[in-house]
Amino acid sequence: MTIYSIALIPGDGIGKDVTDAAMRIVAATASKFHFTVKETTFPWSREYYLKTGSMMPADGIEQLRHFDAIYLGAVGWPDTVPDNVSLHGLLLPIRKAFRQYANVRPHRLLSGVEGPLKAKDFDILCIRENTEGEYSGAGGRVHQGTPEEVAVETSVFTRTGVERILRFGFEKARTRRRKLTSVTKSNAQKYSMVFWDEMTKSLSAEYPDVEVTHTHIDAMVAKMVMAPEDLDVIVASNLFGDILTDLGAAIQGGLGFAASANYCPDRSAPSMFEPVHGSAPDIAGKNIANPIAAIWSAAMMLDHLGERLAANAILKAIEAATARGIGIRPGSHSTDAITTAVLEALEA
Ligand code: NAD
Ligand code: IPM
Ligand code: MN
Repeated sequence: MTIYSIALIPGDGIGKDVTDAAMRIVAATASKFHFTVKETTFPWSREYYLKTGSMMPADGIEQLRHFDAIYLGAVGWPDTVPDNVSLHGLLLPIRKAFRQYANVRPHRLLSGVEGPLKAKDFDILCIRENTEGEYSGAGGRVHQGTPEEVAVETSVFTRTGVERILRFGFEKARTRRRKLTSVTKSNAQKYSMVFWDEMTKSLSAEYPDVEVTHTHIDAMVAKMVMAPEDLDVIVASNLFGDILTDLGAAIQGGLGFAASANYCPDRSAPSMFEPVHGSAPDIAGKNIANPIAAIWSAAMMLDHLGERLAANAILKAIEAATARGIGIRPGSHSTDAITTAVLEALEA
């Protein structure tokens, strides 16, 4: 029997609730499809920070490196630990250290979910550059607290980084409807975004079967609301992809439905799977977080590990539950009730 080793980082707030839910589904799927998942839980979170002064141990990355995959709930508790400290101490270094450059987030309406738009028939795959761009971490502050204070934060776009994410997008488009929308802001940002556009254009020669559209980020947000059914694969920089995928989550019915994978495509390091949403302090500990985004992310993990049938079974079970109206509106069902409904559908 194949054994997969998973590093679990439940994190903060609803991260814990939805990780629990997702792992219940993973365990049930494993026994049904005859594989074993061996979980090792890492308590890296706000509590860990308050005890130790850091979000993970100095060798945290090395501790994670040998796992087949990492599953993360959500990190952050801004009342206690500044967000820039918690995220730059855990989530963002993992994405960078393990070269998880392709952040993939599907946006479509699950059966039974209405969503806020008139358009119902959209199926978007957002591919977000995940290791550089606006999240390079390059910058600094001087003259702090004085009127001369300066804060600089530099976006970094490398040929390697831009080319590999665009290629990833083109390849994904080939497995779908062969449409790729590259999102930039090259009318205003004349170095990095023009470079991105040029790379898109030059690579498109290698993918003549993929229809390429260049769209500015401002027009893109309007398009996602007005005509989402025209979109197939979207490729965007780190920050633009971050923002577009919360919009994607909104049009698919809410953050409780938005799944995500951080892939290290060459598999030289583990990939990481996590819902798009955060720790949601406003609903934490109330058993009302929607676990579907987290469960779907776990299905993406199993698919990545080679268990495609198991992943598909989870997707089917999620949709069997939502088609019955389970979890389709905020607060309509508890976290436990939704998880149980998915489990029942899986076992049916
Ligand atoms: P959030 O995603 O946590 O919450 C935004 C809103 O969506 C809240 O009203 C919340 O209740 C709701 N929501 C989110 N997930 C939900 C779910 N599964 N079911 C039902 N409702 C849900 O974003 P935020 O409030 O901006 O951030 C809270 C904390 O999480 C911050 O510390 C932030 O930095 C962090 N964060 C972490 C991640 C991550 O770890 N991947 C992602 C985003 C935000
Ligand atoms: C996400 C989150 C993170 C990001 C934050 C928490 C740093 O919003 O995964 O979408 O911006 O990448
Ligand atoms: Mn985000």
